[in-house]
Amino acid sequence: MQTLVITGASDGIGAELARQLATTHGADATLVLAARQRDALEAVAVQCRQAGARALVVPTDVSDEAQCRALTTEAVRQTGRIDVLINNAGVSAQALFAEVRAEDLGWYERLMRVNLWGSVWCTHAALPQLLATRGRIVAVSSLAGLVGVPGRTAYSASKFAMSGFFEALRAELKPTGVSVTTAYPGVVATRIRHHGYNARGEAAGSSGLKEEGAMSVEECARLILRGMERRQREVVMTTKGKLGRFLKLLAPGLVEKMALAALKDEVKPR
Ligand SMILES: NC(=O)c1ccc[n+]([C@@H]2O[C@H](COP(=O)([O-])OP(=O)(O)OC[C@H]3O[C@@H](n4cnc5c(N)ncnc54)[C@H](OP(=O)(O)O)[C@@H]3O)[C@@H](O)[C@H]2O)c1
Repeated sequence: MQTLVITGASDGIGAELARQLATTHGADATLVLAARQRDALEAVAVQCRQAGARALVVPTDVSDEAQCRALTTEAVRQTGRIDVLINNAGVSAQALFAEVRAEDLGWYERLMRVNLWGSVWCTHAALPQLLATRGRIVAVSSLAGLVGVPGRTAYSASKFAMSGFFEALRAELKPTGVSVTTAYPGVVATRIRHHGYNARGEAAGSSGLKEEGAMSVEECARLILRGMERRQREVVMTTKGKLGRFLKLLAPGLVEKMALAALKDEVKPR
């Protein structure tokens, strides 16, 4: 029996990761579902149980260190182990840096607490259990964590920070058998950009990115789980993402143009 902890499991990619794990692992898995909204978590838990898995709901705000530690404590209290930790909880933002007023800049720090610190705290708390099971850590970064995306200074900073943290941790953990898989999705069809911050730190309510051709949440979750099962170092999604990474070394100006082209006209810098 394996215990798999998923943060940001109430919606989007995290909820789909839970559903797919429930289907593939069935009664061999206990899924520990964490996010802030209890009702939405309960709805995902019902779907996981219908697929045959055991599912626990642990309401957690990952921007609070004590709640990250309480999540691990609860998972261990109820199941006695942790085999997998998927650091998926995240918030997005769309704002040109020059348009953010000094009095609003606090949301940059709040975003960092969720995307970076939430991952650091959850991973630190779960590490003793993961070492004991020679388990798996997954970090859901973004292509914006490989290439700086205009209008996403806060988000890119948080995802680059995640990438660096988990790359260093992967090397540290190599002798222990614990694997670290960092996923770099491109544009995935979820509501993340609608919930994300605008320049004033309010919910943006719309997406600043061109959404045509977005990857389905099912495909994104499938790729993440395949990388996790194979203990891959990285899962870089989309051809553009794979190309952009190498092109950045050879022709960074071209990559800047590609990043700008991903924005809708109304949010482009002038
Ligand atoms: N969708 C994309 O295009 C895309 C692309 C690249 C990377 N990603 C990354 O993929 C991950 C999942 O994104 P998504 O698209 O599935 O987003 P989503 O649909 O908006 O879901 C985000 C999840 O994170 C949770 N969350 C937000 N703030 C939290 C907090 N303070 N504490 C605990 N949980 C919190 C939300 O639950 P509650 O509101 O219930 O807390 C929700 O379950 C994120 O890390 C995101 O950066 C997404």
